[in-house]
Amino acid sequence: METVVSGIRPTGHLHLGNFFGALRNFTIMQREHRCFFFIADYHSLTTHPTPQDLHGNIKHVLAEYLAAGIDPEVATLYLQSDVPETIELYLFFNMNAYIGELERCTSFKEKIRKQPSNVNAGLLTYPTLMAADILIHRATKVPVGKDQEQHLEMTRTFGNRFNRMYGVDYFPEPQAFNFGEALIKVPGLNGTGKMGKSEGEGNAIFLADEPEVIRKKVMRAVTDSGPIQPNQPRPEAIENLFDLMQLVSSKDTLRFFGEQYDQCTIRYGDMKKQLAEDMILFTAPFREKIKDLLSNEAYLRKVALEGKEKARESASATLSEVRSLIGFKPF
Ligand code: TRP
Repeated sequence: METVVSGIRPTGHLHLGNFFGALRNFTIMQREHRCFFFIADYHSLTTHPTPQDLHGNIKHVLAEYLAAGIDPEVATLYLQSDVPETIELYLFFNMNAYIGELERCTSFKEKIRKQPSNVNAGLLTYPTLMAADILIHRATKVPVGKDQEQHLEMTRTFGNRFNRMYGVDYFPEPQAFNFGEALIKVPGLNGTGKMGKSEGEGNAIFLADEPEVIRKKVMRAVTDSGPIQPNQPRPEAIENLFDLMQLVSSKDTLRFFGEQYDQCTIRYGDMKKQLAEDMILFTAPFREKIKDLLSNEAYLRKVALEGKEKARESASATLSEVRSLIGFKPF
């Protein structure tokens, strides 16, 4: 079985874009691979959250991972901060990572633009920590989006450099994990681009959103004044509504509004009402599960503890081999 590692930063809540883009695939992968899914809480310290925010976000994301279908009996689900072995490997990678290559990393350049008053060393070494996350389990597959390709490339660089330095073939070259099927498009509600939490209030539908909130967001989605010629092509904002409908509504519903559009009889208000109700139905089981889980601290504690034990077992095996390759050996 190949080893898969993926992490989610505990910032904000999971939305339909995260669900269709990542989490749903995790739930499929977990059956055929040795999977480690973790909450990247150390990484989130690069933006200096308050202790309350940090703890609350970690708890929420843990509940959401579980609600979305990650099975802690099958996959290993853990908090990054519960596995100190990662940090020791991070230290080793930092010794062999060059300031220049870290400074050239696109995400670093972006972050110093976004938070010029907090350019901390953790931001600079974000890629070495991510490499440690992945290579501590010697993973070969990493399900991440396009924006993480460069970090993954750097992970391969650090692993290969280690191998060369110590004349071994120890770390594998992890590759981005694409799921065979074409990437599913999950647009946001503000007319352009994909669903995202940083794209402004109301653009994303969260798994935990209450029905009233979903109705409000969908009813405010961007549309236009409607088609004027039969069968005319759909502008982006309208196509987005159809794309969303395809994810949560029945084929009949989709066909019905498609025909109305083609015949110029469509009323966007009706379409949005239907879309909102279908989204509410689709998210209902998640919403209920998230609520249940959040109030079940004993269960969350048990999941985190078992995840920690399984993750540390794998991590400590790697670390003791790494230490001995480097030359840390008992007398
Ligand atoms: N950098 C990733 C992101 O921003 C999160 C992450 C941290 C990660 N460590 C990882 C993803 C290891 C995959 C594997 O989304």
